Amino acid sequence: MEEKRQFKKLRISLTDTCNLACTYCVEDEKGHQMPPENGAKPLTLNEFVATIETLHTALQLESVRLTGGEPLLYRNIVPLVAAIKAMGISNIGLTTNAYYLKSLAAKLKRAGVSSINVSLDALDAAVFKTMTRKPLLEKTLEGIHTANRLGIPMKINAVILKGMNDNQVLPLLNFGRETGIPVRFLELMRMGYLHHKYAQYFYPEKEMLQLIERTFTIHPEARVASSTANYWKLEGTHYRFGIIANESTPFCADCNRLRLDSYGNIYGCISSANGVSLKNATLGNKQQVQESLVKAMQQKQNVKFVGSELSMQYLGG
Ligand code: 5AD
Repeated sequence: MEEKRQFKKLRISLTDTCNLACTYCVEDEKGHQMPPENGAKPLTLNEFVATIETLHTALQLESVRLTGGEPLLYRNIVPLVAAIKAMGISNIGLTTNAYYLKSLAAKLKRAGVSSINVSLDALDAAVFKTMTRKPLLEKTLEGIHTANRLGIPMKINAVILKGMNDNQVLPLLNFGRETGIPVRFLELMRMGYLHHKYAQYFYPEKEMLQLIERTFTIHPEARVASSTANYWKLEGTHYRFGIIANESTPFCADCNRLRLDSYGNIYGCISSANGVSLKNATLGNKQQVQESLVKAMQQKQNVKFVGSELSMQYLGG
């Protein structure tokens, strides 16, 4: 019999604000934010800690990933990481644009961050600016090099958009080889303002592979359960790169992620715009927490991502 699906990985959006304005995320450089529902206030540090503790008690979480918006804009990130570590969760990931990583990487490592994923969509300064609407390539690279030199395990995420940065696939792959950091190329997901015009920018896994195979001989690796990415090894090297192909190779069927937004709502799926509030559930009340988790689990998709009106800025990756 198939085992019952359980939440094992928690992804927390620490803030829905971001200092970049990526084209696949927001419509203009002001970076539209989801208006918080009726004056909702973001969780305080203590509320974040209590909520994560409650979820960990209920679910025996394997890992926590901190995302955003841009998680390094959340002032209390270092004490929050230390508090999560103190709960006995040792797998603590971070997904960041790296702008503040140069100054924070060492502190984050000391507090217990065990891996860092950086969004880097281009190595050409002009293409970087087109993708993020900010001229901040150098700052991003500094952040990546700082964390890499500290020996923190890292990955690079690059969303590939047709006609915009598909010419960056090979430069990014070479950068990955030089730094030893696995690059993961992402197919565009239909989210936010691009939800309805995503065909214009969608660049499929098949084309990414064809592009790479013009230069490299590659060998697929076996997929790890509940993983978002598939990986390939470059022949004659130890280097591996990944593709997160939510459209071409959907990974919903064994997804075990639970999401928490910065207002205390949980979601069983990134395609859902309807969070289940844990803020008003008495956190000590086990039955209420279980009921909220059941509601979140009902949001899970079985086959593939169906799209969302929310941008990734709100719920994190
Ligand atoms: N499609 C694909 N990837 C996206 N990301 C943000 N929005 C989208 C989208 N619509 C990426 C970010 C980050 C990761 C968590 O998700 O660049 O690296």
